[in-house]
Amino acid sequence: MRILSGIQPSGALHIGNYFGMMRPAVALQAEGEALYFIADYHALTTVRDPQALRENSRRVALDFLACGLDPERATLFRHSDVPQVTELAWILSAVAPMGLFERAHSYKDKLARGMAATVGLFSYPILMAADILIYDSDIVPVGKDQKQHIEMTRDLAVKMNETFGQSEPDGRIFKLPEPRIQAATETVPGIDGQKMSKSYGNNIDIFSDEKEMRKRVMSIVTDSTPVDAPKDPANSTIFKLYSLVASKEEIADMRERFLKGGTGYGDFKKRLFEKLWEYFAPMRKRREEILNDKSYIDDVLARGAKRANELANQVMERVRAAVGLR
Ligand code: ADP
Ligand code: TRP
Repeated sequence: MRILSGIQPSGALHIGNYFGMMRPAVALQAEGEALYFIADYHALTTVRDPQALRENSRRVALDFLACGLDPERATLFRHSDVPQVTELAWILSAVAPMGLFERAHSYKDKLARGMAATVGLFSYPILMAADILIYDSDIVPVGKDQKQHIEMTRDLAVKMNETFGQSEPDGRIFKLPEPRIQAATETVPGIDGQKMSKSYGNNIDIFSDEKEMRKRVMSIVTDSTPVDAPKDPANSTIFKLYSLVASKEEIADMRERFLKGGTGYGDFKKRLFEKLWEYFAPMRKRREEILNDKSYIDDVLARGAKRANELANQVMERVRAAVGLR
């Protein structure tokens, strides 16, 4: 079984990224051949600062390794070290129905947030489909917001198989990938209660310093229920985040205190901060170790690029032959 996912180097990683994508990705490395990449080609659709792109790419590699990605078990590489994906994206775009992509939520959301409409932003899901199909991926661990992109990938794979699959032994060029979305952490809320996202400015970063993390947690937006009154845990961002990092007993205790009244949101926030800080402590420690080993990240990425290229080249041979480019 092959597992694949990507993450854009468009800013620091936050706890939504961690629970939605990185933690499941790390867990899956025991179940098959895992490939994880830093989606720098994708980030070009929004990042205009070359130095920032380079630095963020390294930082995402560092953070992912610190969060438990094991390069002995999984392949970590940079998107742009496998430029064949852009060739596959072009081949896919030749059969991609316009209407399918015009319905993409993420494109519409990005325009609604004021981003300039570029061809790259529009055809982003085609490149993402190429990312997935070029490694014959079976499983794609992602947050819920990426579900539609995986569906589009499957639609494109079916279209390619129908159009060009006849000459293949099993009648198909591509496997159909399955998304793997964690029900419990479908969408991690940000400090304003909306989906946590770097682009909404409501993020709590995994590796921010203590002062900054505390500040972010203390600024979680709450309603104006008085200290003495009972509070609703189900709709509380504090409680939702606490449930990700605390033990069963601690969660039960906080739920009870919410329902009972008598504890203010400020106290709940303090507890949340302490748990969050503690939860990520081993990862901060690992991050320091990696930082002290100067060539570690470069070595990992070089090995990753080699393996990813081997796999991508095999699939591209098949694709080029099937469509008539060889
Ligand atoms: P952002 O919205 O901050 O730019 P990305 O789009 O780079 O995040 O997401 C990287 C990965 O993290 C994706 O798999 C995405 O689904 C997941 N993810 C991002 N934000 C959240 C969230 N708030 N809850 C759950 N998963 C998330
Ligand atoms: N689009 C994903 C995001 O914004 C990143 C990504 C690019 C990806 N290519 C992928 C995720 C392939 C999974 C598989 O988060």
